[in-house]
Amino acid sequence: MGRPLKIIVAIDGPAGSGKSTVSKIVAKKLALLYIDTGAMYRALTLKAMRLGLNLEDEDALVSLAKSSRISLEEKDKLNVFLDGEDVSLAIRTPDVTANVKYIARVPGVRHEMVALQRSIGQKYGGAILEGRDIGTVVFPNADYKFYLDASPEERAKRRCKELIESGEAVSELSVKKDILTRDNSDMKRSVGALKRCDDAIFIDTTDLSIDGVAEKILSYICA
Ligand code: DC
Repeated sequence: MGRPLKIIVAIDGPAGSGKSTVSKIVAKKLALLYIDTGAMYRALTLKAMRLGLNLEDEDALVSLAKSSRISLEEKDKLNVFLDGEDVSLAIRTPDVTANVKYIARVPGVRHEMVALQRSIGQKYGGAILEGRDIGTVVFPNADYKFYLDASPEERAKRRCKELIESGEAVSELSVKKDILTRDNSDMKRSVGALKRCDDAIFIDTTDLSIDGVAEKILSYICA
């Protein structure tokens, strides 16, 4: 199918706010390209770990970002490629999740990732991008900006369910602790920090179903 809509939709928010699932639904409904920017930071983290890089060595991480090929391909689902290898599953392990903060806080790495995200969005002329800094940094002039959030308890419950379904033995309490640690590093970094910008439409997803959130977003875009 072609991609008739030439709009940029930015969806930001913390882990477990429902961004990914909702973005996929909205992208499908509007035939928009879906860009999971977190997957890009995860792919670089995986590569740094595999190479045994010192995750505190910012220069090495920037060189890594400059020399890596990261791409997203949509078939029936979104596949993430790192230097030609499909790493869609490998980037979702708890180790990658725990280490991604070292990569995402480096200004030079973010510079490379933002440039890549802009070039993909501009190449296709329209896309829905989901992450932490889409409406503030990547596409500050996006046609539509949304900020999704939910209570930490609800976010932990959702993440816990996903992890248990993928075979991880986790408790809601430990997942909540991880989520709050990630919120803290996402909100406090010096560049590309997660923040709710004034011109983003805020949606509290705590008591909403996934379809309910998707409908809300679609109602703004299709109004
Ligand atoms: O959305 P996610 O949980 O897959 O993202 C993984 C990490 O990547 C997250 O902890 C923060 C970082 N990230 C970022 O810094 N900027 C983005 N635009 C997207 C994700």
